[in-house]
Amino acid sequence: MDEIKIGIIGVRLQGNDHLRALHTIITEKYFEEKISIRLMALCDIDDNLLKERKEEYPDIPYFFTDYRELLKCDDINTVYIVTPTALHHKIFLATAKAGKHIFCEKPLTDTIEKIDDMIRARDEAGIICQVGLVLRYEPIFWYIKKIYNTNKNSWGALQNIIFRDDQTKPYTGTGTHPSKWRSDPNLAYYGCLFEHSIHDIDILMWIFGDIKEVFSKVKFFAKIPPIEDSVCATFELSNGATVSLNSIWYNVEHDARNIELFFENAFLQISFSNFKRKIEIFEKGKKKLKINETKIDKLYREEMKLSSHERFWLMGYGYENIAFLRSLIEDKNATPSLEDAKKAHMVVDACYKSSKEQKLIKF
Ligand SMILES: NC(=O)c1ccc[n+]([C@@H]2O[C@H](COP(=O)([O-])OP(=O)(O)OC[C@H]3O[C@@H](n4cnc5c(N)ncnc54)[C@H](O)[C@@H]3O)[C@@H](O)[C@H]2O)c1
Repeated sequence: MDEIKIGIIGVRLQGNDHLRALHTIITEKYFEEKISIRLMALCDIDDNLLKERKEEYPDIPYFFTDYRELLKCDDINTVYIVTPTALHHKIFLATAKAGKHIFCEKPLTDTIEKIDDMIRARDEAGIICQVGLVLRYEPIFWYIKKIYNTNKNSWGALQNIIFRDDQTKPYTGTGTHPSKWRSDPNLAYYGCLFEHSIHDIDILMWIFGDIKEVFSKVKFFAKIPPIEDSVCATFELSNGATVSLNSIWYNVEHDARNIELFFENAFLQISFSNFKRKIEIFEKGKKKLKINETKIDKLYREEMKLSSHERFWLMGYGYENIAFLRSLIEDKNATPSLEDAKKAHMVVDACYKSSKEQKLIKF
């Protein structure tokens, strides 16, 4: 590809994060002018929001309120789909038909059959696609994967994982989430597990291997089914470990992931939120080791050959964009792929089925 020319569909919360990340990558020349990367168009049905973005980014040439107009534009070869979830499938198929590369936010859509449509459309169009399962690009999870593989022998068998993921209800229109669509089943489909903990399921499998069995309880305390706000799921991993995943939406202003890994000879405690990211390692016969995010970020940038640049303030959102652009430049498959996301969606579906039928689901 000679030039990457980008359009973004949906530019409020997450679309704006991608916009800021891409703008930084372009203005700070992360790719050292190996290729021209340009932000060409923004699209949103909210006209006022679009006006705001126009003022912030006067150099972007096109602004659309109808995504179909953006897809007709020959000056765009790469599209970010960052609308409410129920629109992803339709916009994805139209974008693939227009032959443009796609970064699509998670969750992809509500059924595995519709994900298979997206996979077929990608293959027919011969385009490159990446899914926004961003935790794979958070340096802390990259680091856990790395040290897990290096220390497997001395740490012994991974016995148990306790994974807690709690988030302030993201649909009240206040706090960090300005919109309300996540409480509308027509736009969001489901609740905390589908919308938020799909990330957790993806990194669990990315780091530790496939999930073989699922048993779960799914509840609706806010009484807006099928938007669940409490899930307690048990997974059996292919490496023999048992995982307990608790996914929660509540009214408390707290948003964090806490992960505890229990090996035969080691215990890892991981804290991950917008404000705190750290790992503590307790190993048999050794002193406790604390690793903070600055150190991990430095190691990550060295490994990704980004060490000459300042630390990326958007962390995962910045790094996932760098990875996507790199795949486009090098004309190679991007990760996480649609297939990776499909695997996580299958586990989410299994959790709903297990709870509904009160039975163990095996893959
Ligand atoms: N990867 C992550 O960490 C992460 C974080 C937040 C959101 N997301 C995902 O990103 C997507 C968007 O979420 P958000 O929080 O940014 O929502 P949002 O409400 O903040 O933004 C969505 C935007 O899409 C616009 N929109 C709606 N219909 C449209 C259409 N037909 N054409 C063009 N624009 C349209 C809305 O007006 C709005 O501005 C969701 O799928 C969500 O799950 C992912």
